[in-house]
Amino acid sequence: MKAKQKDQYERVAKACEAVRKVTDFVPKVALTLGSGLGDYADQIEVKSEIDYADIPDFPVSTVAGHAGRFVFGMVGKVPVVAMKGRVHFYEGYDIREVVMPVNLLRMLGAEILFLTNAAGGINPDFHAGDLMLIRDHISLFVRNPLIGPNEDRFGTRFPDMSHAYDPELSGIVRKVADQNKIPLREGVYCQLTGPSYETPAEIRMLRTIGADAVGMSTAVENICANHVGMKVIGVSCISNMAAGISKVPLTHAEVQETADKTQPVFTRLVTETIKAIG
Ligand code: HPA
Repeated sequence: MKAKQKDQYERVAKACEAVRKVTDFVPKVALTLGSGLGDYADQIEVKSEIDYADIPDFPVSTVAGHAGRFVFGMVGKVPVVAMKGRVHFYEGYDIREVVMPVNLLRMLGAEILFLTNAAGGINPDFHAGDLMLIRDHISLFVRNPLIGPNEDRFGTRFPDMSHAYDPELSGIVRKVADQNKIPLREGVYCQLTGPSYETPAEIRMLRTIGADAVGMSTAVENICANHVGMKVIGVSCISNMAAGISKVPLTHAEVQETADKTQPVFTRLVTETIKAIG
């Protein structure tokens, strides 16, 4: 385990080398495409693509047909790289594997990480189909991805998390939403491991500790991004109201269906935000 952790930098460097054999494209913004943005790559003026499977030692999803790839290209005048597909902790990966792509994105030159996901709504004012700007997160229920020997070439041992989601970039998202008349909620995202959805008692607890939405990704990626000095934006698609708040049992199919319906407005918010960052 220790040897593997020590090798993380070399491993990311090797992955970077493999990407560099395919493209010299330097992205400014890296984008993780969660449910609700699955087809976002269609918005990108594609310059280059690389399958995760062609990158040595890159974590590939265990879910059939979800292997994934990096899509490099332009959104307006902004060079971006989108991650189409990502692995989750609940698939059985070590948490350091889960965040390894974030280290790679930084090494490829990305300065900003735009995290998107689907999440269950806890705040009773929310509705399925809402978009929520992530103002902050609670990651206490998942293993911190920085546990283990610190890799100083990535970042400091004890990263500050006071502005885990960049206030200035969050301001741009708010402004873009306002200008485009896109209703935007705001709140605290809490990551749990999954894969089971939460119980109503767990949701009551999360509400008590200040969470507005719950999901199974994002917070650990945010921690890794802060470690390597990236600025982070986070937006959740509230794909369902969480267990106990929703009167009906949760199913992945329903989560996916709502996320898909949200896709056009989510796409517009992301595109206009990236252009405004430009
Ligand atoms: N809980 C956890 N993760 C989720 C949910 C949920 O209700 N909806 C989408 N991802």
